[in-house]
Amino acid sequence: MNLTDNSESILKEIELKFQAINQKTDVQLEGLLWSKPITYWDYIQTDALLSLQTQRTTLPDEMVFIMYHQVNELIFKMILWEIDQIAETKEIQVDFFSERLSRITRYFDMLTNSFSIMENGMEVEQYMKFRNTLTPASGFQSAQYRLIEFASTDVINLTDRRYKDTFDENTDLETSFEHLYWQAAGKDYHTGKKSYLLQEFENKYKEQFIRQITNFKNKNIWQKFTQLPEKDQLNTALIEAMRHYDYTVNITWVMQHLNTARKYILESGKGNGEATGGSDWQKYMHPKYQRRIFFPKLWTEDELSNWGNETTV
Ligand code: HEM
Repeated sequence: MNLTDNSESILKEIELKFQAINQKTDVQLEGLLWSKPITYWDYIQTDALLSLQTQRTTLPDEMVFIMYHQVNELIFKMILWEIDQIAETKEIQVDFFSERLSRITRYFDMLTNSFSIMENGMEVEQYMKFRNTLTPASGFQSAQYRLIEFASTDVINLTDRRYKDTFDENTDLETSFEHLYWQAAGKDYHTGKKSYLLQEFENKYKEQFIRQITNFKNKNIWQKFTQLPEKDQLNTALIEAMRHYDYTVNITWVMQHLNTARKYILESGKGNGEATGGSDWQKYMHPKYQRRIFFPKLWTEDELSNWGNETTV
């Protein structure tokens, strides 16, 4: 057999690779004789993916609801993947930082722009029927959404604004966790009692959330930005990318979401105006009240004081 120089040098590299892990190259090469050629459907796992859409009702628009949520969860996973690239890169370069941040923002822009699939893509009558079978579940229980937040900024920036001023870096994690802004959606404000929605969410994910907060304490997006050399922190393209991400996640997406909730729960005139998760949602979901801001130091006083005012959105 005539091997080209190129094939020989590849074989040599393969030999070295297997030597390094004490494996016989001949056995590995013979394995190739019997391995199945790859197909699109095996690689992408389309059969598994397309078998995950199970309705609880006979109403066709429930399928739109399920599949769009699944699309969101897949995109959330892509976002977390890119945040990890930023978090794990030592001595990160400003170009790499900006480029990966742009990827993340593109994904979130896509979710924001496509939210009309929820707002206009389902019949209100059908939604108001199938939602009864979902209570007390809510998108509030999306764990990946919370993981993205913990990986984006310091926990103080996710703290309920009523308690923020009394907290600092010495506040213990348990106290911080109990005062995250989203606790307000699941707690009775006067008694502090947690709703079933929140209890179940925490039973399943609290440990993972605490791990995520701890892991990202020094490598969340904001921390990575502050670790850049001073001149890079003044890079206008990067600052613009950071601000765009903050605005998309915490204002544009939130407003699209709120407007959709208003259309179905309030303006439909059907139902009792309550959300499936049972929160005081009209107040809770508004960016003006939540005031979650990932990178407050990148906004002017004026911008901060107008945060979430609907005239500026
Ligand atoms: C018809 C469509 C939708 C409606 C009417 C709606 C409504 C609501 C409401 C009222 C809440 C407040 C909590 C509660 O009491 O349930 C909420 C929270 C939430 N929903 Fe949706 N939602 C919709 C679609 C989506 C989609 C497509 C996603 C994507 C995964 C999503 C993710 C979330 C998240 C992450 C929260 C928590 C947000 C926060 O804590 O500020 N929702 N939703």
